[in-house]
Amino acid sequence: MNTQPTPLSRRRFVGAAGLVAGSMITRPLFGQNAASNKLNVALIGVWGRGLAHYEALSEENVVALCDINEAHFPDALKRFPGATTYIDWRKCLDHKGLDAVMICTPDHTHAFIANWALKRNLHVYCEKPLAITVDEARTVRATWETKKGKLATQVGMQRHAQPNFNRVKELIRDGAIGELKDAYAWGNRQIPKPGYFPEEGTPPPGFHYDLWLGPAPFHPYNPAYFSGKAGANCLSWNMFWDFGAGQIGDMGSHTMDLLWNAVDGSLPTSAEAKGEAYNSDVTPVNCESHFELPANDWRGPITVNWYQGGAMPRSPKPFIDLTKIGHGAMFKGTKGFLIADFDTRMILPFGDDADMTYYKSRKSDDLLPAVGVFQKQWFDACRDPSKKTACDFGYSADMIEMMLLGLVAYRVGKKIKYDGKTGTSPDTPEANAFMKKEYRDGWNIDG
Ligand SMILES: NC(=O)c1ccc[n+]([C@@H]2O[C@H](COP(=O)([O-])OP(=O)(O)OC[C@H]3O[C@@H](n4cnc5c(N)ncnc54)[C@H](O)[C@@H]3O)[C@@H](O)[C@H]2O)c1
Repeated sequence: MNTQPTPLSRRRFVGAAGLVAGSMITRPLFGQNAASNKLNVALIGVWGRGLAHYEALSEENVVALCDINEAHFPDALKRFPGATTYIDWRKCLDHKGLDAVMICTPDHTHAFIANWALKRNLHVYCEKPLAITVDEARTVRATWETKKGKLATQVGMQRHAQPNFNRVKELIRDGAIGELKDAYAWGNRQIPKPGYFPEEGTPPPGFHYDLWLGPAPFHPYNPAYFSGKAGANCLSWNMFWDFGAGQIGDMGSHTMDLLWNAVDGSLPTSAEAKGEAYNSDVTPVNCESHFELPANDWRGPITVNWYQGGAMPRSPKPFIDLTKIGHGAMFKGTKGFLIADFDTRMILPFGDDADMTYYKSRKSDDLLPAVGVFQKQWFDACRDPSKKTACDFGYSADMIEMMLLGLVAYRVGKKIKYDGKTGTSPDTPEANAFMKKEYRDGWNIDG
């Protein structure tokens, strides 16, 4: 294992940002390989989902690898020889000359690492979900607001690059279903668990369980948290309240993204939810949440509705079985429905005489631009932060804040009003306690 920091001569982003702040974009030179303009990147969480980014990362300089399981370093170092290894992400963020971090760790660490990284003026790609409480989403967004236009951010909702996301958005914006009124998204993954796993065995050598827990309250070690295949191990821990947000952080992030992109979502003014009986260990499998969203510059107020774990919106027609769409979205307007999954959409106009003459489809020149390779969009924005990324921390924090507010409403058990300016419920003070969580001593999200 290489433990020597790589000597670097990085110009701090502040200087580089100054160059790009105006309308003249001068590509800043980054990192030790300034001639080729590569970024110095740290990969935090090198196995599992981390593996999915190796190819994209190989275009840049991976100078640091961080993982709490040292057994994952040898293979990662084969791919990124010369990188310095770290077991504690707090130390990794101080790696000299770092430009950017990719966070592929479990959900309960995302907001912490992302917030710390932004505060150290690092560009951040964070796997979804960005946060597991309303308060975490707000904390990260608040920090991001101070760095907007200077740092590039992206949440790993890479399905957003699928062309269907643009096509659905265009159809909604162009009035293919009339004026938008209601939007629905659902996911039917179901992984029920009775509670946290009981204490069993001891962590293998080189597995730093205390760092894995990080800010989460203590729960004893059990190998069942680490029994999944690469990229799917999150399904071993993401349903527990202290480690994830269940379906909302899992496929829900991808599916709500399809909806959020099309409706130009913003924080809701109310939330209401119901589902299976509350379990203090495990997030609900079966649950549905309903939100009221204010009008924006192209549409009136709408409702957004999220269904999971077997709960489903009503199909507009008996011959359409929405349950056949594992993860989907549906939009209701004044003139019809649009139903979509990640790569398909269909329009169902109201009435057998609907001729759709009210709707003019776009010319090909007016189609929304393709996102391209999702990680590359972020790398390009790191080099020129005036460039927009599809799932920056503004877009993504709002989306996950709304979904997490659904879990708050579920716990309160009644419809609550929500004030997005303060992140509190004006009519249900008891809801405010569920917007945040306690962290273990020694862990501070604002570090
Ligand atoms: N975008 C997608 O399509 C997609 C797909 C799968 C997973 N994910 C997300 O990726 C994340 C990781 O999921 P996974 O299944 O790879 O999980 P995992 O449990 O396999 O963990 C991934 C890696 O992170 C390491 N790790 C754990 N805690 C760490 C810490 N505190 N510091 C450094 N390294 C740490 C693990 O040892 C492992 O190598 C989750 O947040 C999940 O939601 C996204």
